[in-house]
Amino acid sequence: MKIIIFDELDSTNNYLKDNFSTYENETVIRALKQTNGRGRFDRVWKSYNDLTFSILFKKSFPHHFIAPLAVHFSFINEKLNSIIKWPNDILVDGKKVCGILIERIFDNKISNDIVGIGINIEKRDDYNYLSKYNIDERKLLEKVLNMYKYFISLSISELKKYYIDNCNILNKEVLFNEKKYKVKDVNDLGELVITDGLNYKVINANEIDYTTMVISK
Ligand code: BTN
Repeated sequence: MKIIIFDELDSTNNYLKDNFSTYENETVIRALKQTNGRGRFDRVWKSYNDLTFSILFKKSFPHHFIAPLAVHFSFINEKLNSIIKWPNDILVDGKKVCGILIERIFDNKISNDIVGIGINIEKRDDYNYLSKYNIDERKLLEKVLNMYKYFISLSISELKKYYIDNCNILNKEVLFNEKKYKVKDVNDLGELVITDGLNYKVINANEIDYTTMVISK
């Protein structure tokens, strides 16, 4: 994957959205400083001296599994106590230090996927961060991209198994529309299959904000 580094961008996802046609498949855009990062649900994603980058794919892959797995296994490789939190947050020592924003744009019916990854490195007051682990950002980026290449070669059933084995969601109780459900499965699209004991429902990451769900331990 070709890495292009900018000193400063508003958002690496925005940059690729505006310029995807000029870049080839699997181009990685990294901003040393990101001034107006975006998160899921249009939230602000604040960055300091962090690892913020986006990867352009001119073909679709199950990034909802691949991206969190690539970051999670890079963290495991760095000996961090990492776990995936559905749908695609990565927690270290139980705290979110990485967010992933996957966006799809169509150009003459051809889909272009933009996978934005933000890993909090620098110490700050508002979010959690990894500064105490002395992470080499350049090496961590290489690791994530190598893991990405590995996971992209796997089948959807292999990816799903890896994802479920490394995510803390199965059998958790969740509150959805003020009703309690248990998570029974994650389907190929990365959606939750939940049940109240009688009926099953499928909910996707846009229908439910995991931070507002009540989760039993
Ligand atoms: C989330 O947890 O809500 C997702 C956060 C994603 C942040 C990354 S940082 C690089 C890329 N550029 C953005 O504007 N957002 C993503």
